[in-house]
Amino acid sequence: MPPQEYATFADIPVTKAQIEHCSYLFWSPLFPKYVPKSIIIESLPKKFIQYLEQDGIKLPQEENSRSVYTEEIIRNEDNEYSDWEDDEDTATEFIQEVEPLVDFPDLHQQLKDAMTELGAVAPKLNWSAPRDATWILPNNTMKCYEVNELYLLLNASNYIMHDLQRAFEGCVDSDDVRDSKFDLVLRQWCDINPALEFRVFVRDAHVVGASQRDLNYYDYLDELSDTFKDLIDELVHDIILPKFSDKSFVLDVYIPRPFNKILIIDINPFARKTDPLLFSWNEIVTIIPPTDDRNNEDYELRLVTRHNTGRFASKEHSENHVPQDLVEAGLDPEAIRELTQKWRELLNQQTQEESSNSEDET
Ligand SMILES: Nc1ncnc2c1ncn2[C@@H]1O[C@H](COP(=O)(O)OP(=O)(O)O)[C@@H](O)[C@H]1O
Ligand SMILES: [Mg+2]
Repeated sequence: MPPQEYATFADIPVTKAQIEHCSYLFWSPLFPKYVPKSIIIESLPKKFIQYLEQDGIKLPQEENSRSVYTEEIIRNEDNEYSDWEDDEDTATEFIQEVEPLVDFPDLHQQLKDAMTELGAVAPKLNWSAPRDATWILPNNTMKCYEVNELYLLLNASNYIMHDLQRAFEGCVDSDDVRDSKFDLVLRQWCDINPALEFRVFVRDAHVVGASQRDLNYYDYLDELSDTFKDLIDELVHDIILPKFSDKSFVLDVYIPRPFNKILIIDINPFARKTDPLLFSWNEIVTIIPPTDDRNNEDYELRLVTRHNTGRFASKEHSENHVPQDLVEAGLDPEAIRELTQKWRELLNQQTQEESSNSEDET
């Protein structure tokens, strides 16, 4: 069969073990010199998981510590709201809400201590960071200076929810998360230049391609390409492959100036759910790495080659705020027309169903 045809139908089977090997607690201790300083809080208590899963966000009201997030609101004309008291009586009456100071005071203290030791942190769970929830913090990043920011960010993130509920979705052996344990990673904050983050695709112990991770155009990357590739090659072949149990994985790295060292940001499953960025998964599974003039295996480091204004219009992670159709429609008048049409059809259908239901009842 010609490779192209095969590629179109390429299945990429992933096992639960492969996903587990990509959890921070599994891989980061293998490469301590290559990861930022971090504190991992292992086996989070069930109550904390419930806290993240519950609707709404309940911040702790501590007596002896001040936080801009829990300072008592002084009522005035501007924030006076007539339903205020009603809300308290009705909405919370039936739901047993989880509260940090009552339900996981030890963990709460542990988090505060860790943040005193590390300073500002970038949090993540076993696999995902709450990149989709930065809108909830005033600085619009994942930088947490205090424990309340940590709670806000984790609670507001769908990516965190994915780790808790659907981490093994699509695995060929089992997709059960029930007996999983979850860990919280607090990485010491470092100012990362997104232009210098790369995603590396490793298939059967060969680097088959690498892509810029942040998909904006940076004019200075192209001429540094060989420097980046040398650092990536060394890291994969001399450091990672000898120690990491899987031979196919997707590696995220950071190469800070002056480009004489490389850091591991993450190891992700070799699976369709890992974003292939400037590649497609069909390409990644079928590329045959070429060899260079010294007969060494070579690969393409793919870069964005020009400004792409369309990308700016579709805000990153906006797919988490509204349906994807709507995001796409925002960029294309024809799509808006189509969407309006679909919406009308749905409404019609609903009206018809309702009227036939009420006929049934009578
Ligand atoms: N120590 C850190 N300080 C600041 N930002 C970080 C740090 N570590 C990672 N980041 C940023 O967070 C992003 C997401 O982290 P990552 O571990 O790759 O999570 P995910 O797998 O959910 O994307 C990275 O692309 C990087 O820009
Ligand atoms: Mg990742």
